[in-house]
Amino acid sequence: MIRLDRYLSEAGVGSRSEVKKLIAWGRVTVDGKVCRDPSAKIAENSAVTVDGKPEIRTEFRTIAMNKPAGYLSATEDKNLPTVSDLLTDRYARFDLKPAGRLDRDTVGLLIMTNDGALNHGIISPGRGVSKVYEARLDAPLPPDAAERLASGVTLEDGYTCLPAELMSYSAEEDLARIKVHEGKYHQVKRMFASLGANVVALKRLSVGPVELGDLAEGEFRELSGEELAGLYRAAGL
Ligand code: URA
Repeated sequence: MIRLDRYLSEAGVGSRSEVKKLIAWGRVTVDGKVCRDPSAKIAENSAVTVDGKPEIRTEFRTIAMNKPAGYLSATEDKNLPTVSDLLTDRYARFDLKPAGRLDRDTVGLLIMTNDGALNHGIISPGRGVSKVYEARLDAPLPPDAAERLASGVTLEDGYTCLPAELMSYSAEEDLARIKVHEGKYHQVKRMFASLGANVVALKRLSVGPVELGDLAEGEFRELSGEELAGLYRAAGL
């Protein structure tokens, strides 16, 4: 059994407060009857309609997780904990896969989805979905760091990165915020290394329009309808 408001928000109809209003207005039916109680417990296989549209429940699920350090961005591993281990039973059955990888020691926003097209759109450099990271560095950045990042730094293996934005940099705190549009192996660490600084801690703050916000480490949440729509748009879908 699941609460009606939760069922609707998980189906991508809207945020919890948005769907509560829809329910209160009498726009939702469960098994043929109008239900105005957002806390009503309904069976997972109930026939739910919004404004008469049948079966709005979607098979697709997309969540935002705050990945803690020590977890692999994978669904299973013989020896190490993975982000899938952090999912509750309810979500474990949706076959959610991480959209791209964060290194084991990187924390922050990881989108997990069972929509393969969305997953591909988020990670494909051609779609250019932005990713913002906060990096703590072990050495000062050169004065021309922003210009070099903007014109595309060349990594140690000869690869020239897509243009990236140094959004902020505090030399006192050794803290930099960077926006990139691709996700090669150790991308951000290697970009800063090309500027003479090692990353000692890395956190992802956003993916496209989705922000980490105050989600605690190890926690996850469903995306709101607005976030989902923005993410699909950003991924070119
Ligand atoms: N870039 C990195 O170097 N590591 C990450 O985990 C993500 C981006």
